[in-house]
Amino acid sequence: MSFSAQHFQKQLHDLTIDLNHNELFTLTTTHWLVDLSRHYLSRKQLKQLTVWLEHHDFIQQKNQLFDDNILNFTENRPVNHVLLRDSQQIFSCSQHTAMAIDFNRQQIFVNHFHAEQNEITDLLTIGIGGSHLGPNLITDALKEFCSTKLKTHYLTGTDPYELSAIFKQLNPKTTLVFVASKSFSTLETLWNYQQIKAWFELELASSATKHFIAITNNQDKALSMGFLKEYIFSVPDSIGGRFSLWSAIGLAMRLSLGEAQYQALLAGAHAMDVHFKEQPLNTNIPVLLAILDLFYGNCLDVQQRAVIPYSHRLRLLVPHLQQVEMESNGKSVDIMGDTVPYRTGLAVWGGVGPNSQHSFHQWFYQGTVLTPIDFIALQGNSAYPDFEQLLLSQCLAQAKALWEGQSSENAAQATQGGKPSTLFLSKSLNPRSLGELIALYEHKVFSSGLLTNTNTFDQFGVEAGKRQGIAMLAAINDAPSTLDPITENILNHLNDLC
Ligand code: F6P
Repeated sequence: MSFSAQHFQKQLHDLTIDLNHNELFTLTTTHWLVDLSRHYLSRKQLKQLTVWLEHHDFIQQKNQLFDDNILNFTENRPVNHVLLRDSQQIFSCSQHTAMAIDFNRQQIFVNHFHAEQNEITDLLTIGIGGSHLGPNLITDALKEFCSTKLKTHYLTGTDPYELSAIFKQLNPKTTLVFVASKSFSTLETLWNYQQIKAWFELELASSATKHFIAITNNQDKALSMGFLKEYIFSVPDSIGGRFSLWSAIGLAMRLSLGEAQYQALLAGAHAMDVHFKEQPLNTNIPVLLAILDLFYGNCLDVQQRAVIPYSHRLRLLVPHLQQVEMESNGKSVDIMGDTVPYRTGLAVWGGVGPNSQHSFHQWFYQGTVLTPIDFIALQGNSAYPDFEQLLLSQCLAQAKALWEGQSSENAAQATQGGKPSTLFLSKSLNPRSLGELIALYEHKVFSSGLLTNTNTFDQFGVEAGKRQGIAMLAAINDAPSTLDPITENILNHLNDLC
């Protein structure tokens, strides 16, 4: 029987919540242990839901991700980011020749760069959203695996203070600039590129061009802007921005990691692809996490989920996941174009533990809002095992305390408990384990899209916002009389300030 999101919602609402189910539920992948014991749904109830999904065509829908189907149905595009970490598939299928060529070009570029003597010490990526968040997460979290000869920098928004900081840090002579933009029409990226290009031309004259690499789906525009053809790398239309770190968008990251560690990153993601494709639904971690999100959102009026890595190196994970999750599942219209009558994606926020304990955990303990938490912890392999044991203990303690609560005769000191969480635990943070974790969340948001009959892979809302930005600038500069009354009033009051 075919899947119906409405019918699935009924399955969720028919469940009886038993907070005292006491069922242990721990799943493992190659590098991660994922514990689901502290949730409002028991292992038995989750299995009941996955059996229903099996009987309603969900496995076939899920595994469309591994075919060339048009999954981005509103933009009539296939979705191929999983292909990027399966080089065997890329090179064996004739319809992926272009991808194979891209893959080879990048590999030759990276190997040649590391083989030749050159004076490049800094890699600057100009990009925003998926053209920045994923690569920056990787080079920041995996710094110990990256080249010590290359420093990576990112220039993202239109705050001139970000730009001026780059001017102070870099020397055009020893810097390679990657202009990462799938569309090559993103305002922030184009404005930043113009400034950096002008600076390089001032310093390097005609040789400036050889310091600029374009990474885009819009090759014609890159050529028209003066990029050398051999310095343009392609991002296929079938690779969504928030899923593009595995593509040429991550070229500076690939240079910094080096080919072996980059392949390990891909291998980790591929291991999760295999898990997602082959695991039965009742032990399929991305599917189970998607079910839990939908259950909390639709049966307990939960609107958000916190992600708290107990790892300083994963401090950029939340910004990346915010785009992956909220740009993918922040939807309200289904495949038929009808407004969905249920909650889709949750808001994602968070921070690094144990710092978060001294910031917003009080709100978890005694606040009035139920917020499921993803705790992410590492056993560690550093030179400070005692610190790592403390850090892990702090994470485990928070998950326990929030779930169990603590009674007290003094009501002001009691904590309610019943705060659900998923614990993700790995032995260490390395390219493979991080690749696996990022792919896990990618598959979770795809599963959420399937369960709500929405398109995980478009982002028309944001595109509308982008156009508004351009129109506002034009109105302020050239036609203030066309400004809306509120904006006009705001700007008038601005002039009154000291
Ligand atoms: O935020 C909208 C968006 O299109 C993202 O999906 C994308 O990652 C980002 O802007 C940058 O887009 P581009 O790579 O085309 O510059």
